[in-house]
Amino acid sequence: LGLNQGQRPVGPPGARPMAPEVVWHDLECGSYRADLPLWRDLAARNPGPILDVGAGAGRVALELAQAGHEVTALDRDPVLLDALGARAAGMAVHTVRADARSFELEQRDFALCLVPMQTIHLLDGAGERGAFLTRARAHLRPSGLLACAILADFELFDRAAGDPVPTPERACVDGVLYASHPMRVAVRGRRVVVERERRILAAPAAPAARPAGHADPPADQIGECERDVVELELISTSELEREGRLAGFAPRPAVEIPPTEDHVGSVVVLLGA
Ligand SMILES: C[S@@+](CC[C@H](N)C(=O)[O-])C[C@H]1O[C@@H](n2cnc3c(N)ncnc32)[C@H](O)[C@@H]1O
Repeated sequence: LGLNQGQRPVGPPGARPMAPEVVWHDLECGSYRADLPLWRDLAARNPGPILDVGAGAGRVALELAQAGHEVTALDRDPVLLDALGARAAGMAVHTVRADARSFELEQRDFALCLVPMQTIHLLDGAGERGAFLTRARAHLRPSGLLACAILADFELFDRAAGDPVPTPERACVDGVLYASHPMRVAVRGRRVVVERERRILAAPAAPAARPAGHADPPADQIGECERDVVELELISTSELEREGRLAGFAPRPAVEIPPTEDHVGSVVVLLGA
């Protein structure tokens, strides 16, 4: 859910054509790396199979599999899971299409369950979080650990009100230019609303095809401009720890992931099974 900036490399080179959904996901989430050392460290300290909840296109799952861990990547989005599966070819990654609030896997001995990138904020209220916490606990071994990244701080802005906004994220994929423009981050009651405008443009002509001295022509827009809105329910460390206790977990000291120039900071709430 990171708000980040700049032009991004998207997906592995030479891969099959990507679904637009995967391109947007890679563009808007894929460049975040500040949390990876913590997941690697938790995986090394909690040896055994890992369950990555809300795994998306595999940003974290693939990193841990490359480090030699066995990972089950769970997500409700079949298109993202399909991309993850293709990227994980040859690695110890299992994909599972399921909902975080209701999953039932045969495997119940996970050493570590991860919920990276503030995905837990997508669950609606204590009821949905409680359902997820109960499912997570049921799938962890007795000494297992659940680690959930929550929002630490964030800046509000509104492009329509003339506020400065982060630079759009851009990527050129299969000859098409994708641009995601951050438009607004606002608080509505207990929710943070993040709005982006997504535009698909014809990629500019190669420099050799342009007359000398001519700058890039403006790119033609392909299709409608799409508005993407994500709502995050706010939750504090102490609230999540209290809900964890209700689900049978024992909280351990939370860990901070500081903000970077491009991304907001997180707190990772740690709950022992
Ligand atoms: C912000 S992305 C994070 C992706 C990945 N974990 C990462 O860190 O790059 C959130 C992911 O959670 C998934 N998701 C959201 N709600 C879910 C739910 N109730 N059950 C399973 N997956 C869910 C979305 O499909 C999406 O892939």
